[in-house]
Parts: sequence; structure tokens; C-alpha cells
Amino acid sequence: MAILKIARMGHPVLRRPADPVSDATAPEIRALAADMIETMRDASGAGLAAPQVHVPLRLVVFFVPPGRAEDPDDADDAAAGLTILCNPSIEPLDGAQADGWEGCLSVPGLRGVVPRWRRIRYRGLDLNGTSVDRVASGFHARVAQHEIDHLDGILYPQRMRDLSLLLFTEELRHGVPEGAPPLAGPPGAGDEEE
Ligand code: NI
Repeated sequence: MAILKIARMGHPVLRRPADPVSDATAPEIRALAADMIETMRDASGAGLAAPQVHVPLRLVVFFVPPGRAEDPDDADDAAAGLTILCNPSIEPLDGAQADGWEGCLSVPGLRGVVPRWRRIRYRGLDLNGTSVDRVASGFHARVAQHEIDHLDGILYPQRMRDLSLLLFTEELRHGVPEGAPPLAGPPGAGDEEE
């Protein structure tokens, strides 16, 4: 296992569509996923996509930290353990979007307000080649959309509608700008990649 170097916004690997994983059960994919998980944990992230570690393959890892679930009455918006997905796809379920704060390990030090589908279905393969087919909402839906966007060369600022809500995390000590959604969750809980 190894902690990998994270590519930053502007690196070509983050701008191109990633290639499909040809065999989700291959030992090299398992090794890559293990390194990505170690790298994500080291950086206190909630998710990571392979292009972020300079590997242009359709592989993502993410989890929903305790305290980041947004709606206690919604079973699809709950803390969730580690998810590893090869060749994932996303389908919005009800057409509703919600604004929320995001950060990204490839865009260090910044956060922004990003509209995302509130409720999605995502599918992919795990490392045993078994189908994953899940409904997610809230933060779970947000982190899945953020990571899968990386596979299409899209970083969260490209999804923003109001760039006045792109700011340095440190400056949030002055408070959240008027009209922006509140910051979710306890400080440090998946702050860097949402
Ligand atoms: Ni990211």
C-alpha cells in the first residue's frame, strides 16, 4: 500500500474522460483501489477518483462519514461504509437539485456551492465483479456525483452557478455568505472532498 500523489486542477489527467476498467477483478485494480483508500484517508477526504492519482481509469472510492447524513428520516441519506465502484453510472431519480458546499482534494484550500441531483441511482461493479445498484440522496448522492464527475474530466467549480460562492476554506471563519446553504457536518468530517 502507498500514499499516492494527488493531481491538482489544471493537470491534463483531470481534464480528460477516463477509460473503462476492463477487468474489475484484476489484482492491479485491487492494488490501485487499496492505494486510493489509503491516500483518501491520509488526506481526510470522503472520496477519491483514480484520475486524481494520475490513473485515467473509471474507478472511484467514497464513503459517507457519520455526521454527514442530512435527513434522519431518509434511509437513502445515511452514513455509509466504503464504496468502491468500477465503471459507475448515475441516473437522477426525481429531477430535483439541491445546493451544497463541496471541496476537492484536487482543488485544495477552496470550497464552493454546487447544485447536485438530490436523489440518484448509481450502478457499477465492485472488485469481485459483482453489480452494485443503489439509491442515494443527500450527501451520499452528492459525493457519488462529485467522484463520478472526475471520470468525465469535470471538477466541481465547472458545476457551479454562482462563482461568488467559491472561496477559501479559511475565510469561512468569517461566516457563510448570505444566501448560501449552511456548512454541513462537524469540522474535519470529509471537509476536503465532498
Ligand atoms: Ni474531487
